[in-house]
Amino acid sequence: MGHLIAPSILAADFNHLGSAIEMVNESDADWIHCDVMDGEFVPNISFGIPIIKAVKSVAKKPLDVHLMIAKPERYIDAFKEAGADILTVHAEACIHLDRTLHAIRDAGMKAGVALNPSTPVRVLVNVLEMTDVVCLMSVNPGFGGQKFIANTLLKVARLRRMIDQHMCRTLIEIDGGVGIRNAGDLLGQGADVLVAGSSVFRAENPKARISELKSVVSGRYVV
Ligand code: DX5
Ligand code: ZN
Repeated sequence: MGHLIAPSILAADFNHLGSAIEMVNESDADWIHCDVMDGEFVPNISFGIPIIKAVKSVAKKPLDVHLMIAKPERYIDAFKEAGADILTVHAEACIHLDRTLHAIRDAGMKAGVALNPSTPVRVLVNVLEMTDVVCLMSVNPGFGGQKFIANTLLKVARLRRMIDQHMCRTLIEIDGGVGIRNAGDLLGQGADVLVAGSSVFRAENPKARISELKSVVSGRYVV
């Protein structure tokens, strides 16, 4: 399987969100990444359930919903109803991560776990089997347009080994500061899904940028 591209609509022009989704629909993108922030787990507030519903009504690709919220278990059913296909919670926000991941799958969604840059991948060792996607944050979550933290490459390699050793099919997603310059290196370490916000929506031609990201070759450094 080739890698997947998930444009993050946090970087889109919210006055023209509909046309941003249509652009993604017609592009080589695989998922639509939606960043939900509550002002508590992260120091910023983005958008919530009504926007996810609106996006879902025009989206032709799965919604990859990244919850940067405290106690996300409170809203699993609400996000399912809103149209989430993949629901990702932060390990740091869940006291009972095992229970929460099961609840997400039981609700009929793919279960994702996100890790902050400071959280080691070993916290996942007991939940890999019930995790469809691990989202490694390559910036401190809360804002788009931040600089990629290079240490993430080591975490990808470590997580790749863990997943292969456990013979799991968990996908590795990278979120934050991802663009043409680091995509090849990330894929080379074993990443499966690349989230891209500003790299896509600040490009002169966002649709072409998505195609470029989709065709990056693993392990090759492209400038
Ligand atoms: C950051 C979000 C990211 C963000 C990525 O907290 O989780 O998904 O939109 O944006 P870029 O690609 O601009 O770093
Ligand atoms: Zn995100």
